[in-house]
Amino acid sequence: MNDTAKILHEKLGQRSPREAIILGSSLGGVADALENPLTIDYLDLPGFPKPSISGHGGQLVSGILGGREIIVLQGRVHYYEQGDATAMRPVIEALAELGIETLIVTNAAGSVNVDTGPGQIMLITDHINFAGINPLIGETGDAGFVSMTNAYDPDCAERMRDAARYEKLPLAEGVYMWFSGPSFETPAEIIAARALGADAVGMSTVPETILARRFGLKVAGLSMITNLAAGIQGASPSHDETKTQGTRAAGSMIRLLTKYLELTNND
Ligand code: HPA
Repeated sequence: MNDTAKILHEKLGQRSPREAIILGSSLGGVADALENPLTIDYLDLPGFPKPSISGHGGQLVSGILGGREIIVLQGRVHYYEQGDATAMRPVIEALAELGIETLIVTNAAGSVNVDTGPGQIMLITDHINFAGINPLIGETGDAGFVSMTNAYDPDCAERMRDAARYEKLPLAEGVYMWFSGPSFETPAEIIAARALGADAVGMSTVPETILARRFGLKVAGLSMITNLAAGIQGASPSHDETKTQGTRAAGSMIRLLTKYLELTNND
């Protein structure tokens, strides 16, 4: 176990979560839904990043949701903050060493598809990374040759669909395309994204999914659609809009995640 995982292990005591959730922009409220919460500041965990933008905290919260022990990561670091795609590597490596088996990545995203509008949740079935950046660049040996087929675990996806059905929540599905940000996309880039097969666009998640696969974690991905992407029906997204819509829709995300964990528990 590395030092960070050891510290986490000590702080968590008897708790032995198998799932961790990374919360996207303004979805921090999910952490407030945890029973028996234990909060650990990223600053107390060596190697953990220090998020610097509004809408993102910097805390790990362990607790119970849907009757299941989990870890919630309130705040992520994006590539665009420091130009470092590996910023989340120590986090994901520590989670893997701690025994986490599934990483649930959530994000705020723009929809490329008029049928999926603000407030809807999209299950990520696959991603497109044309950013020219990969968090495994520089990996020594063969460890970087990670398969990205079924990167978003089909069994987890099926359970997420079941959870949505139980909760009577509409759940869109599609491909998430990563843009480095922090500027939003141009309308021409969104036309290109659609032509390439994207359903949603965003500035996170993809490096984390690649890192999670590198460390042997299964991944489930959810996008909270906060806006139509640039140029679609005249849309011109902003960070304020992302935060407002993300906060408004956090309730459905909590219901979906709670039911997902309940179903995982019953399995
Ligand atoms: N583009 C990129 N990232 C985003 C968007 C968007 O339209 N909405 C929320 N995050």
